[in-house]
Parts: sequence; C-alpha cells; structure tokens
Amino acid sequence: MKERETFASRLGFVLISAGCAIGLGNVWRFPYIVGQYGGAAFVLIYLVFLVIMGLPIMAMEFAVGRASRKSILASFQELEPKGSKWHWYGWFGMAGNYLLMMFYTTIAGWLLMYFFKIAAGQFEPLETTEAVTQAFNGMVADPVMQVVFMAIVVALGMAICSRGLQNGVEKVNKIMMLCLLGLLVVLAIRSVTLEGAVEGLKFYLVPNFDNLMYDAEGNFRLGQAIYAAMGQAFFTLSLGIGAMAIFGSYIGKERRLFGEAINVGVLDTCVAFVSGLIIFPAAFAFGVNPDAGSTLIFVTLPHVFNSMPGGRLWGALFFVFLFFAALSTITAVFENILACWMDKWNISRRKAVLANLALIFLLSLPCLLGNNLWSGVKLLGMGIMDFEDFLVSNNLLPLGSMVYLLFCCLPARYGWGYEQFLAEANQGKGVPFPAKLRWYYTILLPLIVLVIFVMGYIEKFF
Ligand code: ALA
Repeated sequence: MKERETFASRLGFVLISAGCAIGLGNVWRFPYIVGQYGGAAFVLIYLVFLVIMGLPIMAMEFAVGRASRKSILASFQELEPKGSKWHWYGWFGMAGNYLLMMFYTTIAGWLLMYFFKIAAGQFEPLETTEAVTQAFNGMVADPVMQVVFMAIVVALGMAICSRGLQNGVEKVNKIMMLCLLGLLVVLAIRSVTLEGAVEGLKFYLVPNFDNLMYDAEGNFRLGQAIYAAMGQAFFTLSLGIGAMAIFGSYIGKERRLFGEAINVGVLDTCVAFVSGLIIFPAAFAFGVNPDAGSTLIFVTLPHVFNSMPGGRLWGALFFVFLFFAALSTITAVFENILACWMDKWNISRRKAVLANLALIFLLSLPCLLGNNLWSGVKLLGMGIMDFEDFLVSNNLLPLGSMVYLLFCCLPARYGWGYEQFLAEANQGKGVPFPAKLRWYYTILLPLIVLVIFVMGYIEKFF
C-alpha cells in the first residue's frame, strides 16, 4: 500500500492548520457577527467558547485523525468498537465540507473582484458610504462576473491540491499566512489612528451588555447572541467536519495535540482580533453601521484605503492576502474532501480533483445566484447564502463537534475510549491534555451545547 504523505515540518503543520482555521471566518465573518450582536460583550462570550469548547475539541479532532491516519469518511470506522455506527457521521461531516464551500467560494470570488477594482482605482472617487454600497451591490448583481470569479477560485484551489500535500498545500499556505499577518498589523495601525476611531474602539473593546441582550429595536435576543457566538467559535476553528482531523492524519507523534491546538487557536484569535481593530474604528470613522451584516468589510474597507497615502496599493495587497487566507481554508477543506474520495474509493488524486472540480463548481452556483437571479428565494426566512451558512455554522459544526467529543470521551465499549484518546493526544512533547475534566467533556459540555442550541432555535424561529 502507498505510504501516507506527511508534513515536511512542524511549522508547516501549525501554519497549515492555522491556515485552515484562519480565513473568511476571521476577517469577514467575525467583524460582521460582532457588529450585529453589539460589540465587546459578544467578543467576550465568543472567547469563552473558544477556550472551553474550541481547544479541547480541536485536540480531539487531531487525535482521531492521527490515530486513524484516515479522513473523516474512514477514520471512525478505524477506531470505533465493532458493530457501532459512529462512521455514519462521516457522511454528515462530508456534507458539512461541501456546504461550507458552497458559499465560501462565492465570497472568495468577491475578494478577488475587489482586488481588481481597487487596483484599478475604481473606489477612489467614491467618497460616501452610499456610493461604496452601490458599487458593491452592483458587483453582486452581476451573475456572470461572479460565476467567472467563483470558477477561478475553485480551479485555483484544486490546482494547488492537485500538486499533493507537501508541494502544494503546505508550501503555498506558509507564505500566504505570513504575508497576511504582517499586513493586518499595518492596516490596524492606520485604522485606529483615523479621526473618530475612538468610538469604534469603544464599541469593540468596552463591553456593554445591553447591546448584547437587545437588538436595535429593543427586542430581547440574548439566547440568539450566545448561539451566534458558539457558531462563530466553531466556524473560525473549522471544527466538527473533519477539516482539522485530516491534518492530524498527516503529522508524526512528536508533539502533544493539546499544545498544537493552543498554537492554532491563538494564531486564529490574533487574526480575528486584529481584523476587528481594522473594521470597527474605520466603520465608526466613516459612518458605516456596524450592524450592516455580511457586506460590512466590503463597505468599510474601501474608505480605509481611500484615506491612506498609497491606498490603492495597500488595498490591492490587502485583498490579495485576504484572498490567500480564504484560499488556504479552501485548499484545506478541498484536501479533506479529496482525501475522503481517495481513502473511500481508492482512486488517484488526479481523478478525485477532476470530479470535485465539476461538483464544487455546480454546488457553488445557488449561493451566487441567490444574490441576483434567485434573490427572491427564501429558506426559513433567509437568503440562500445565509441559509447555507446557518446550516453549517449553527448546526453541522456544533453537532459534529459533539460527535467527536462523545466519540473520544465515552468508555471504549461505546466509542473510541477515553484512555485510547488520551494515549494518542499525549504522545510526544508539549502541553498535555487536561485529562481530569472528563466529567465536563462528557456531561457538562454536551449539555451546554444542547441548551444553547434549543435556546437559539426558539428565539430565532418562534
Ligand atoms: N475556519 C474557517 C474560516 O475561519 C472556515 O474561515
């Protein structure tokens, strides 16, 4: 049998896992969700979720991947007790990977379009927020251009993956990540020194619990806010659909997995935090409502660049690096999908790439058309993009994470077995997994997720 590929370096592993985590979730989704739920108090809750849920579950995903050396479709089968049905979850996890990509590719396409528009100076004459909003709306109203850019995104992602793990995914991601980190810091400095930035900083950094509990119309929405914070925590770490587990399957046994989860979590949080430092001061300085929703960064950022000497260059660089961050998530998720196909059906990487190129292109169309030709389509009261995002972030990711959690923490008779999991997670050097908290993982944590889930659903739909 063919040897399974491994990473060339530990830095490669940490950066590629961070590359999977860091993406639109940090720079696009985090600011807009924080803006919708009232700023700093929401950020606090989100951070709590990252620590109490995100880190342990990430270590569990890595462990399942590393112990099985398989992708999500085959990993449970490898470790579960004979006759049990954990492996059924593999199909849901796969569906989660596809669903995530079904809207991610469209937004990544917008980044690329913004890159060209800013580089061409098209935003320079637009001084008001209305003018920038109009330009954005005009862009998404054009299905043809969007299809072209989405297709470029899918093709690029597959092209990188087709070169294999070390040559493709690992090398490209390392460079992309480092450039993005540097540029974010430069932009944050520009944004916090804008006139009027202080109000934005207050909104982002000084908790106001009224903002969290009530929406602009004064409706109570605490349950929904907590539900959204949980969803964002799972989204930003890409947990619950095996996207992290796949990287576990490519690493050696030199490092303990909880320590690696902390590294990835810290990097991810830094990027989200700095993105907030760019968006909110700028939004307040230029009179953009932080509650603007998924268009927030697209409406706010052109102002930031217009206010900078050499803004065209900075803007173009920003969108190209952010595009790379999104692409690093895309290649990571594609890699997971391809590994599933290769593991399950024993086909070559090339064939898996060709089949998925077509499949993901087609699956990405509904979201894209939801912004124009199909804008009348509403599912549970949401547009297509929001509905797909809701399915993934607020359903598949938390529930999938619970599957990993229970699989690792239940006794070996029912799941993988806690001792087996600990033995895997604690191999090597680094921070050991907090093993004494088993009661918390098995009882309290699933309960918390369940309660938030029910509360969130009730408030959202009833
Ligand atoms: N974790 C990925 C992101 O934040 C999905 O973009």
